[in-house]
Amino acid sequence: MTLTESISIERVKKSRLSTIDFSNLGFGNHISDHMLVADYKDGAWHEPKIIPFGDMMMSPAMLSLHYGQTIFEGMKAFKNKNGEIIVFRPQRHHQRMNKSLERMCMPTLSEEYFLNSLSALIEVDSDWVPTAEGSSLYLRPFVFAFEAKLGVKIADEYKFMIITSPVGPYFAKPVKLKVEEEYVRAAEGGTGFAKCAGNYGGAFYPTLIAQKQGFDQVLWTDAKEHKYIDESGAMNVMFVLNGKLVTPKLTTSLLDGVTRDSILTLSSSLGLEKEERKVSVAEIEEGFKKGTLTEAFGVGTAAVVSTIASISIHGKNYELPVVNENSFQLRIKKKLNDIRRGNEPDVHGWNYTIK
Ligand code: COI
Repeated sequence: MTLTESISIERVKKSRLSTIDFSNLGFGNHISDHMLVADYKDGAWHEPKIIPFGDMMMSPAMLSLHYGQTIFEGMKAFKNKNGEIIVFRPQRHHQRMNKSLERMCMPTLSEEYFLNSLSALIEVDSDWVPTAEGSSLYLRPFVFAFEAKLGVKIADEYKFMIITSPVGPYFAKPVKLKVEEEYVRAAEGGTGFAKCAGNYGGAFYPTLIAQKQGFDQVLWTDAKEHKYIDESGAMNVMFVLNGKLVTPKLTTSLLDGVTRDSILTLSSSLGLEKEERKVSVAEIEEGFKKGTLTEAFGVGTAAVVSTIASISIHGKNYELPVVNENSFQLRIKKKLNDIRRGNEPDVHGWNYTIK
């Protein structure tokens, strides 16, 4: 018996599916009928269970609430043109999840355990995978310390869970960014590369300030000098500068985005040379002034490829040219979607089919 077959399933008495308006999903507003839960105890992960999505009992002394041992991943499932359900690059997400777990002194999961858990849950809620272009089932695996204790310590008990959500686009329109020169998301040597919850909570305050000033998101810079661009919190950033695809190279302070990696892999097939390197705020500003910065966009699982409309640098707002059908960002977005939907061959083996 495979692990998928051995996962126990308690189904909902009544599905909520008919209450969902699939033409107006937004992002993260609806959670599918079921969730997967597994316990880590006595030094091992135990068999996962699928149960109806709902509230859980937990101790107010649960360590993750106090000391932040909690990490997550974000993936997407699509229906391809043959009606099969495809998860995009779950093995790569699993690798990144284990890196986050290691950084936070939490127990890792085997690829088999992770993929079987994911497959079983998607199979149970397969009717929740949207079919419309631009929509998908967002998959949110997460792990958190469950042990109840107040001493500052690495927990001995954890939960691994997966919940899923049918989603539309993350951003409704092109985003306005502000280069952050006062606050810091992550410093080198910190946890910026990990998907730990604290990275997101810590970003709220500077983002709120930026939003009050009329921006949508912050463009984070390096912690030492605020001279080099890192990422934009919910997405990595890419530029078309001097006719090349340019993106900040990975360090310990930014997320190794799966969409980032996919676009870098695919860029040459669209005839664009790529550069992964330090990207200074000064050269972006010069690019605006000289007209050599022709595109800027965010890339991420949730964001997919999101157009950046403007970037504020040292208080001066610079507008990007309007995107047209020849823009690299639209062409690469189409290519990515075509691979996931089965309209183009998956030569890199990125699509994982749910049987
Ligand atoms: C993702 O793209 O999956 C993210 O983690 C971004 C955000 C929804 C937290």
